[in-house]
Amino acid sequence: MSNTKHQSHSPDRRAVLRAAAALAAAPVLLGAFPDGATAAESTSSVASGGGKSLDLPLLRQKRTLGKGAYSLEVSALGFGVMGATYNRGITPDRKSLIALLRQAAEHGITLFDTAQIYGPLTNEELVGEALAPYKGRVAISTKFGHSIVNGVYQTGKLNSRPENIRRVAEASLKRLRVEAIDLFYQHRFDPEVPIEDVAGTVGDLIRAGKVRRFGLCEVGPETIRRAHAEQPVTALQSEYHLMWREPEKLFPLLAELGIGFVPYSPLNRGFLGGDMTAYTRFDSGNDNRDTLPRFQPEALGKNLLFVEALHRFGRARGMTAAQVALGWLLQKGENIVPIPGTTKLAHLEENIRAVQLAASPADWRQLETELAAVPIVGDRYPADQQKQVQQR
Ligand SMILES: NC(=O)c1ccc[n+]([C@@H]2O[C@H](COP(=O)([O-])OP(=O)(O)OC[C@H]3O[C@@H](n4cnc5c(N)ncnc54)[C@H](OP(=O)(O)O)[C@@H]3O)[C@@H](O)[C@H]2O)c1
Repeated sequence: MSNTKHQSHSPDRRAVLRAAAALAAAPVLLGAFPDGATAAESTSSVASGGGKSLDLPLLRQKRTLGKGAYSLEVSALGFGVMGATYNRGITPDRKSLIALLRQAAEHGITLFDTAQIYGPLTNEELVGEALAPYKGRVAISTKFGHSIVNGVYQTGKLNSRPENIRRVAEASLKRLRVEAIDLFYQHRFDPEVPIEDVAGTVGDLIRAGKVRRFGLCEVGPETIRRAHAEQPVTALQSEYHLMWREPEKLFPLLAELGIGFVPYSPLNRGFLGGDMTAYTRFDSGNDNRDTLPRFQPEALGKNLLFVEALHRFGRARGMTAAQVALGWLLQKGENIVPIPGTTKLAHLEENIRAVQLAASPADWRQLETELAAVPIVGDRYPADQQKQVQQR
């Protein structure tokens, strides 16, 4: 009798032992994926992804952007891929970048942000190749809305006409190697196309199964309300960090409508990471900081006072300047998912660890008070680009 019982249970026990072995073999992957992938599935993703279990921290914390049918649960910190190929100067070779993006996925990052204009096109291609082994386990956001003709950016021109949105979606799907775009943002408000038409077109793409969710960048309350009424918005993505706090005005509205917030350039394009000096210069070929008022030599030097305050705050709490900048953003709301970009494994680790570090609300208030007294020199954008991010 006991023998029969033993035999009837042994296949299950073997399965349990196999699963336990798989868990032991792949400890860093537990909880890495939001879609309920099992440990065994996660183990096979290591093999197919070519990644190696390094001693990097595992990002377990999740946050939810948006609500209801259009919500998206992702890691508390995403990865902004733009600077891997575009606007951030010299970057490592493609093979190294692919390895870096896979390391990010292996260590729990489940939101990767790109756009048609980054490159143009090549950044999406990189993301598509790097994340192909993680399909269904990480979310990719991309963006439409700039005018790109035959792969060439028509400087300063926007295009959110419905036929262009549909064209961009089809092409982005191919470059990203996915069946549906997890989150499709309008990159810049197009004054020539009513936002209802934009939202309605993305809604049609959602119903057609080509897009899963809709997002907006750098828009104001009226546009958010009108778009959301046509097609629920999952996330607003706007510049937000310790040196640019304007979006806070929108937080009550985002809370009211249940829209998530994705701060872009969360380290103010690297400045808050603390590695720059008054003598830092940018490669005019592939680094837009060369044109930004806050990164001109005089402004850089004066704004270092800001970074010194972050260093002081961090030194007393075991945090680097970058971790202070990211930690401050994360404690601003549970619906906030910053997307810092990096080309370095060391910075990836530093940024991931920022999620685990904490300061008290009183500490953060003290930091804000101290920083309020530091004058910020230079606008965030030159006049032509500033026009495209004015709140509407
Ligand atoms: N929607 C929009 O209009 C819009 C606009 C701009 C950006 N974005 C999105 O936001 C993402 C991030 O923005 P971003 O690249 O402008 O700015 P960011 O994330 O604030 O800064 C990126 C820069 O910071 C450096 N960095 C990263 N981690 C660091 C650390 N721990 N310590 C010191 N330096 C560090 C990186 O250099 P290393 O490579 O040396 O680490 C990189 O040059 C982009 O990739 C893109 O997806 C969206």
